Amino acid sequence: MRKKLLLGNWKMNKTPEEAKAFALASKDVVDFALAHNVDIGVAPTFVCLATVLENRHPGLIVSAQNVNEHDHGAYTGEISIPMLKAVGVDWAIIGHSERREYNGETSEKCNEKIKALLAANMTPVYCCGESLETYEKGETNAFVKKQIEAGFAGLNAEEAKKVVVAYEPIWAIGTGKSATKETAEATVGFVRATLREMFGEAAEEIRILYGGSVKPNNIAEYMEEPDIDGALVGGASLEPDSFRALIENLVK
Ligand code: PGA
Repeated sequence: MRKKLLLGNWKMNKTPEEAKAFALASKDVVDFALAHNVDIGVAPTFVCLATVLENRHPGLIVSAQNVNEHDHGAYTGEISIPMLKAVGVDWAIIGHSERREYNGETSEKCNEKIKALLAANMTPVYCCGESLETYEKGETNAFVKKQIEAGFAGLNAEEAKKVVVAYEPIWAIGTGKSATKETAEATVGFVRATLREMFGEAAEEIRILYGGSVKPNNIAEYMEEPDIDGALVGGASLEPDSFRALIENLVK
């Protein structure tokens, strides 16, 4: 049985003070999640990671939103894996569509980051998903297959099992136009089939999240689908009340 996961992606939101208030206010939310055997976490900005770690319920997963694949060196503006580990972070989102679009990240670059994270015993959350144009052309599967094959290239089955995938159609992110549960399941199921081709039975253990305008009022629908193991949530994860409503409806 794959354990369900709710991960809040805060993007470029919250000052350390606001992040602290969230961490303190959401301790009982974490208790609730753990009591229901669900993993729960948030991905704050780099400057808020330490604050959240210091003030959270210890069961709350704290993830970075990105990481550099090199340990140190002349990479101005970047943060490395040893730096994250030093503050107690062992998860990182990789290849979010906003980073692919605004920072030129490719699946090949993501592959380097995923390998570096796994070598450091950290958990990558690898994002994939197509644009509206690709979706309307009916080319979603071909597009996502390439992202999965490139992102997981060179991993063995044991390593692949440690990666979490998030399928996020770009046309559904921040738009309020969520994919129907059937559309989401069709692509998430296809992602799992692609992983099965690459890694055999290990694909059954890889958690695949859906993301894109997930809200308290629609999260339960996605959880009814056999291949969807949780959600990566942006806007609706920012306030403790909404975060609480998400987890309550996820476990229903
Ligand atoms: P959204 O963002 O929930 O605000 O659509 C999801 C994401 O980008 O991870």
